[in-house]
Formats: sequence, structure tokens, C-alpha cells
Amino acid sequence: MNSVTGTALLAIILCVLISSTTATPVLGIMSHPLNSTHEYIAASYVRWLQMGGARAVRIPFTSNSTELDLLRKNLNGVLFMGGSQHLPESAEYLYSEVVSNYDLEDASTLTPFWGICLGFQWLLQMASEDTHILSTGFDAENISLPLKFTDAGEQARMYNQNGVIDTVSLLKANNVTLNNHGAGVFPADFAASEKLDEFDLLSTNEDRQGVEFVSSFEHQKFPIYGTQYHPEKSNFEYGSTDPTKNDSPYESISHTIEAVRYSFELSALLVSEAAKTGARFDPASSGLRTIIEENDGILVRTSFEESYVWEV
Ligand SMILES: *[C@@H]1O[C@H](CO)[C@@H](O)[C@H](O)[C@H]1NC(C)=O
Ligand SMILES: *[C@@H]1O[C@H](CO)[C@@H](O)[C@H](O)[C@H]1NC(C)=O
Ligand SMILES: *[C@@H]1O[C@H](CO)[C@@H](O)[C@H](O)[C@H]1NC(C)=O
Ligand SMILES: *[C@@H]1O[C@H](CO)[C@@H](O)[C@H](O)[C@H]1NC(C)=O
Repeated sequence: MNSVTGTALLAIILCVLISSTTATPVLGIMSHPLNSTHEYIAASYVRWLQMGGARAVRIPFTSNSTELDLLRKNLNGVLFMGGSQHLPESAEYLYSEVVSNYDLEDASTLTPFWGICLGFQWLLQMASEDTHILSTGFDAENISLPLKFTDAGEQARMYNQNGVIDTVSLLKANNVTLNNHGAGVFPADFAASEKLDEFDLLSTNEDRQGVEFVSSFEHQKFPIYGTQYHPEKSNFEYGSTDPTKNDSPYESISHTIEAVRYSFELSALLVSEAAKTGARFDPASSGLRTIIEENDGILVRTSFEESYVWEV
């Protein structure tokens, strides 16, 4: 064997080694009821995970404990999306089973949670063990805002990913975080909850009336993150499919390079935390349906660019 062939062989062997030791994280996204016969997941959440290098599996809204036990053993992370549903028992069961087994000495137990908009609110309701931590009446639909950071926020894992992009400065200087909520959490209620002592409030914002709300948080030690705003929209929603508006944008979504960058940073954080839990997804022995793309059709609808739907 000459040295060129030898080098090529070595490169091939190295490639095989590298690819076989790099598991693609698989995260679950809980679907929400669409109507009496179907549940859906907006495709933007699936694509947001894919952007960070992961794949997605559906967690049905009405999953029972047996199904959730199977899912949690196969998933590297969980994403709770936006929407308008009450906090379901399935989310509470999954959260408490995973979080009560967290062990900082054992990375395989540290399945991350991320909540966006309603999902952020669910996480705070579960973590505070108080559904009333949520207030209503905020005037914060359809508005993109620069973040107001707390001291903890400037140092947070969420906003200090890689030292290449200064996400904190980017998010201070640009109106890129899209808010779309009437419910929310007052900073004072967050601070008053003893159960949230180990969570850091990272940023706040003011609604159109000057009323302040919590716009992001993370747990001090565990991989639990929430954004009241929508990082997935800048890259994957255009707010342009409302037929009554002649296809002109109806949501104030920023698609600037700053918006696209911060969205990627947050996705990459979630997926890198998920990857640390190790290879898990095993459709053959679990009997779970595989990745969303491989199995399900896409439905175009009015309030999202596209959604995946399932008959229930
Ligand atoms: C629910 O929505 C799905 C997807 O649009 C549709 O196929 C189905 O007919 C709807 N069901 C009802 C009861 O409206
Ligand atoms: C959960 O649902 C499955 C059907 O998907 C059923 O076989 C199982 O008995 C249910 N388990 C519980 C604890 O209700
Ligand atoms: C940008 O954010 C500021 C708050 O810092 C807000 O007053 C303003 O309306 C926002 N502009 C747009 C175009 O959303
Ligand atoms: C959302 O905000 C954009 C920009 O301010 C505006 O053009 C659009 O009409 C708004 N949409 C709704 C539904 O209010």
C-alpha cells in the first residue's frame, strides 16, 4: 500500500469513527389539539431543532404515563411550543419524572427542557408549582423587542454560547425577539416564588403599555430554559400566509442577519445540551414512530407557514 492510499484509508476510518460516535440528538415536541380530530406541531419548531443539528419526534398531548415513560427513555430533550392550551397532565408528568431524576454527576439524566411562549409559561407553572404565577392582560402581541438583561442574564448560558457571537450585545441592540402573548409572568411574581430560587430571571421587556414581563429564564444548574419570545420565527415563519391580508406579512417578525444569528445560537445551545445525554433513540426496540419528517405529511394552514398534523 503506498502512502497516499494509506492516508486515504486512515481518513476513511477516522470519518467512520467520528460519525459513529456522534449521535444525532432526538428531541420531543409536544403536539397540541388543532380541532376535535387532529393535533398539530408548527413546522417551524421542528426546523428550529434541525437547524441546531437535531431531529424531532412528536409527544402526543394526551400521552399517558406508560407512553411518556417510553418516550423519555428515547428522547434527548423536550421542547414545549407556543399555543393556547392549558397545562396538560402529560407535560406535568414528563417534567416531574425527568427533573426529579436529575443528577449533576450523571450527564445521561440531564435531559433538557426548553419552553417557547406558552411552553415558557408551562415551565414556570410547573417549576413554581403554581399555575397562578401566570397573569393575563399584557399588551404584547406581535411586537419585536430588544432584551433588557439582568446581571444574571448577561452571564447566562443561554446568551453566552461560543464567544464568537456576542449575543448579549446583539439582543440589546436589535428588535429581534418576537413577542406574541397576552399572558405572562410579572418579574415580582417570579422573584416571590421560593420554588424558583434556583432559576435565574435573565431578561425582561415592557409591553406597549409599559408593563414589565419576564422574557427569559434558565435554571442555575440544570438544563431548563424558557423564552417568552419566539426564537424559531425569525428563521422559519414569515407571517405571510393570512389569506385575508393578501399574503402581506401580518406578524412583525425580524428576518435580519441578527435575528437569524441569535435564533441559531439558542437552538445550538439546546441541541448541544441534548447531545450530552448520549445516544438514546431506538425506534426498533421501542416501537416508537420515528422522526417527524419521515412519517408525516405537511399541512399548510393560515396561522403558521406549515404544520404537521396527526389524527387522534
Ligand atoms: C381538523 O383539521 C384537520 C386538518 O386541517 C382536518 O383534516 C379535519 O377535517 C379537521 N376536523 C374537524 C372535525 O374539523
Ligand atoms: C396508555 O395507552 C396505551 C395505548 O396507547 C395503553 O395500551 C396503555 O394501557 C395505557 N396505559 C395506561 C397506564 O393507561
Ligand atoms: C423596538 O423596541 C422598542 C422598545 O425598546 C419599541 O418601543 C419599538 O416599538 C420597537 N420597534 C419595532 C419596529 O418593533
Ligand atoms: C403586526 O405588526 C406588523 C408590523 O408592525 C403589522 O404590519 C401587522 O399588521 C401586525 N399584525 C397584526 C395582526 O396586528
